[in-house]
Amino acid sequence: MPFFDWNNELNVGVDLFNEQHKKLIGIVNKLHDAMLKGEHGSGVTDTVRELAVFTRWHFDEEERHMELAGFSGLETHKREHAAFIRRVESFITRLDNGSVTISISVLRFIISWLTVHILKTDKKYCTALELSEVA
Ligand SMILES: [Fe+2]
Repeated sequence: MPFFDWNNELNVGVDLFNEQHKKLIGIVNKLHDAMLKGEHGSGVTDTVRELAVFTRWHFDEEERHMELAGFSGLETHKREHAAFIRRVESFITRLDNGSVTISISVLRFIISWLTVHILKTDKKYCTALELSEVA
């Protein structure tokens, strides 16, 4: 059973972004597996890097579609995205320095941030993006 699972409560009403959120959750589960296997060092760091790359791309996609739809909450949403990216990048820097290992609490932070962000923030673009027929 995956550590963190997508469920319909996380449905933002836009298939494209539901699929991207599922992929994001898949990377979080991969990170959990790497930690369980004791792959401290490259296995874990590579997966955090993969999470950062995918997350940055996904956030860009959401922002691009919100901008196209003229969504009024774009600036606030972008600030939340930027803050998360800064946190993940700081983990990567500290992992590279060997000054930290990814612990279960880091993983819990990532999961709770993503869950709250999807439930409270992403769901706000639902109506605007549905109406603009996101392709
Ligand atoms: Fe978002």
